[in-house]
Amino acid sequence: MDISSGLEDVYIKHTGLTSIDGEKGILRYRGYNINDLVEHSTFEEVAYLMLYGELPTSEQLRTFKNSVEKGYLLPDYVKQIISSMPREAEALSVYMTAFAAMSASESNFKWSPQTDKAKAAEIIGHAASVVANANRHSMGLQLRDLAPSDSYARSFLEAALDRKAEQGEVRVMDRALILYLDHEVPASTTAALVACSTLSDMYSSIAAAIAALKGPLHGGAAESAYTQFARIGSPEKVDAWFNENIVEKKQKLMGFGHRVYKTYDPRMKIFKKMATDIVKRDEDRNILLTAEKLEERGVEQFGAKHVYPNTDYYSGIAYRAVGFPVNMFTALFALSRTTGWVAHISEYNESEPRIMRPRALYKGPGPRDLAPVSHH
Ligand code: SDX
Repeated sequence: MDISSGLEDVYIKHTGLTSIDGEKGILRYRGYNINDLVEHSTFEEVAYLMLYGELPTSEQLRTFKNSVEKGYLLPDYVKQIISSMPREAEALSVYMTAFAAMSASESNFKWSPQTDKAKAAEIIGHAASVVANANRHSMGLQLRDLAPSDSYARSFLEAALDRKAEQGEVRVMDRALILYLDHEVPASTTAALVACSTLSDMYSSIAAAIAALKGPLHGGAAESAYTQFARIGSPEKVDAWFNENIVEKKQKLMGFGHRVYKTYDPRMKIFKKMATDIVKRDEDRNILLTAEKLEERGVEQFGAKHVYPNTDYYSGIAYRAVGFPVNMFTALFALSRTTGWVAHISEYNESEPRIMRPRALYKGPGPRDLAPVSHH
């Protein structure tokens, strides 16, 4: 009997949601290739697909959008909590706090297949309003609910950035929302499932997922990858930085490596193309060129070990070019992944779930009698 370090190759559920081919670098949602979905679908269509199993008719899509838009309205106490947070608080922590607070009104939560899809839509709407207001708060702006528009991406962008969004920016946001929407059962989704397996409510399960997503080995990697590029400063400085920090000091190259992918993460290729198409400012272009040079050096060094760039490598450059600060990157990941989390929670609840209760292999002291220790 041995423990599986990092739960490697441990299967915790059946799923019909997402399949990953780690050898070939293929990602599919409900059987559709991620490249096709990013090219031809909108976030709302893909969110519907994940919750209901099929792409929506226009009637189904309209009804779904309406129920998500109802979630744009945040209870006043949630807005007060957001505005009471420190201005420089990381947006992800604001999101976690708001969702933990909203679990307070879920005490008589009773999961059922009839209600969970409506609850999911409400949560998807609430998530957008909370994350947008986290950014408004950090900019010292008055908090406000999202206003319905032609898309979730646009409603989110215009509230978060407090300005009209160009079509190109809306497309980038919409695609980013699809790219991060789900990824089977990484650490954060597993945390959500452990919570919901005790019949805890959906808001608490999302708060558990956000807590797990925060670390730089998982969702926090987009911020730490971007910080790496900024610290290097220019493409010419990549080699010296790499040799000193990654080769000699054996630091991890952030945005590289993956438990499942043993080749390029398909999402990284799409984010790289989006970043290339959208960067305009010289500062952003310099960061992109530095990232490309670092990617080349990283693959040269780690390719033989099947360590390649993952989804978090270029995503921050695209977010930055749209106008988000670095400390919003993980919250933008979480916003998108909220749909994946509620889809997995629904799927798990429908499967007659058992409480998750693994074991630990004891290797402490054997049985021994207690001789009271005198302290005087
Ligand atoms: C996400 O799981 C998901 O699906 C997550 C995600 C999702 O959509 O939900 O895809 C999103 O979190 C992507 C990953 C973002 N994290 C980072 O970019 C942080 C840097 N990456 C590493 O910390 C690491 O690659 C992990 C955490 C992603 C995976 O960890 P594993 O599977 O435990 O891999 P490991 O640490 O056992 O590494 C195996 C080998 C080691 O070499 P040896 O000791 O065997 O010689 O590969 C090396 C590692 O040293 N390695 C790296 C590396 N990642 C692995 N070496 C340098 N830099 C890296 N980034």
